[in-house]
Amino acid sequence: MSQASISDVPSMGRRQFMNVLLGGAVGATVLGALYPVVQYFVPPSSGASSGGVTAKDALGKDVIASQFLDSHQVGDRVLAQGLKGDPTYITVTDSKEVASFGLNAVCTHLGCVVPWNVAENKFMCPCHGSQYDSNGKMVRGPAPLSLALVHTEVSNDKVQFLPWTETDFRTDEAPWWV
Ligand code: FES
Repeated sequence: MSQASISDVPSMGRRQFMNVLLGGAVGATVLGALYPVVQYFVPPSSGASSGGVTAKDALGKDVIASQFLDSHQVGDRVLAQGLKGDPTYITVTDSKEVASFGLNAVCTHLGCVVPWNVAENKFMCPCHGSQYDSNGKMVRGPAPLSLALVHTEVSNDKVQFLPWTETDFRTDEAPWWV
């Protein structure tokens, strides 16, 4: 009896060891299977680590940089859907590229969407007359602040907007929108 129980000790040890191994393997398998499910419930966002989004056109489609540049002229300011769904201008630079910054089109006075005025080379708010220069810097009130900036990048031929958290290059001040 006592012989049997002594010989069982290593045997039990092996069994427990195997159980641990098996449990680990099953656990890993279950976790692996759950991963896509968990991912499904994580809110989608392209460029999640940087908080960026792909710019969307008026139809809600991704803005494809090559097509965008084919259909727009140097100096154009074109509205797209940006961060948090805000209307955001994409600018075509003098070298016919997508400018490295975009402008949130929401007037800093009371929130009208500010149109680009080609003839005046300014953004001019129709609501109460605020004006912003071609870089979105406020040049006439009652708007208290310049238009908010975002970074713009082209990745896989898609235009991306990313948060601008650095100094506002137009005013050399901290970004008021952060
Ligand atoms: Fe633009 Fe008032 S909302 S000037």
